Amino acid sequence: MGLVTGACFAELGNRVICADNDTKKIAGLKKGVIPIYEPGLKELIGINAKSRRLVFTSNIKEAVRTCEVIFIAVGTPALPNGEADLTGIENVARNIALNLSGYRLVVEKSTVPVETGKWVKHTIQTYARGRGKFDVASNPEFLREGQAISDFMHPDRIVIGVESKKAQTILTDLYRPLNAPIVVTDIASAELIKHASNSFLATKISFINAVSAICEKVGADIKEVALGMGLDKRIGSAFLNAGVGYGGSCFPKDLEAFITISEKLGYDFSLLKASRDINYQQKVSFVNKIKDALWIVKGKTIAVLGLSFKPNTDDIRSAPSLDIIQALRLEGARIRAYDPSAMEKAKELLRGVVFCKDPYEACRGSDCALVVTEWDEFKELDLAKVKKALRRPLIIDGRNIYEPGRMEKLGFTYIGIGRKKTKKG
Ligand code: UGA
Repeated sequence: MGLVTGACFAELGNRVICADNDTKKIAGLKKGVIPIYEPGLKELIGINAKSRRLVFTSNIKEAVRTCEVIFIAVGTPALPNGEADLTGIENVARNIALNLSGYRLVVEKSTVPVETGKWVKHTIQTYARGRGKFDVASNPEFLREGQAISDFMHPDRIVIGVESKKAQTILTDLYRPLNAPIVVTDIASAELIKHASNSFLATKISFINAVSAICEKVGADIKEVALGMGLDKRIGSAFLNAGVGYGGSCFPKDLEAFITISEKLGYDFSLLKASRDINYQQKVSFVNKIKDALWIVKGKTIAVLGLSFKPNTDDIRSAPSLDIIQALRLEGARIRAYDPSAMEKAKELLRGVVFCKDPYEACRGSDCALVVTEWDEFKELDLAKVKKALRRPLIIDGRNIYEPGRMEKLGFTYIGIGRKKTKKG
């Protein structure tokens, strides 16, 4: 998120210093090595680094002393108790305080629990000891992995939580070229907008997943139900795709952090607890579908198509594929996996899995194929070739990328999520 934000601000004509204490990462970036896969990012960094609008440094002191606006974009991973780990935020706040001079606007970009801004302000005040002037602001980011640049450049809205007119002017000027609606509010409200938005979207997914379970019980079709619901403008069709559940570095962690901070503040957010439980149950029920179809899982070979938590990224953090593969391995299955870009990262976590060079290779000799991530590549597979490669033509589609009727015509046993066996008409 930091890298995308830095590159995009540079593209908008600002001079940007991306600072990180990971010297290896910075050395790589200086040579044009991008540590993540994000479409278009390498090119954007290349152009802006060449024009010197974008530079990289591991010298935090220099960055703080040079820049008027400082965005904090460090990670806020989940602690074992679900709380967000704010060590990185505190560290940066202290570093800023120790190098403060003149006026600095310190902006929280990382996703943080409500009231973090208050603590950032307190920390800087405590350590700066009158060294310079500063404001704290909250400017949550809503970009999605895989389409981060376009999300940054064409946001639905920009949220700015401020305490001073000066901070408001600096941030609105900075975002003016994007021509997007700007919501100006206080810091706590801005922080809440981020947690509430991610939790709402995660709950929307859990809701449709719960309805998909009912569809399976009565022979209804979740795609048709979602279509009928989504056309109501108040509901909207986005994030109504039933599947194996949400993953990634944001939804699971943010939901957990929101539940925890609510509890701390004296509110039991039972709705979010239910969303989280449904998401977990969705993976369990997917594994149960596999067990029901195969009868005995022990000794069977299973092709897993897709490892990243969603398409167009190599990110496997909290990816449903990890839990599903682990559960199947515990049952004694052999796994042959393929993903267009996440295999390097997956290899570090998934021992004993055979990684294949393409989807057909993964299907070769397998007793069934699972679709776990909806990469376009899988939507365009030569299904006759898949059928030939499999030991038996069984596909369990955790992302509903195929149509049951067509698959049955092609001679597959096809199991989706909340799908009707044969489409009418
Ligand atoms: C999410 C939010 O969408 C961004 O707005 C936010 O900025 C970001 O988190 C963040 O807080 O940094 P991201 O995690 O990149 O973005 O991915 P999404 O596209 O939101 O997908 C999250 C998960 O939900 C994926 O596993 C995806 O497969 C799943 N999903 C999404 C569904 O299962 N069904 C859907 O209909 C949509």
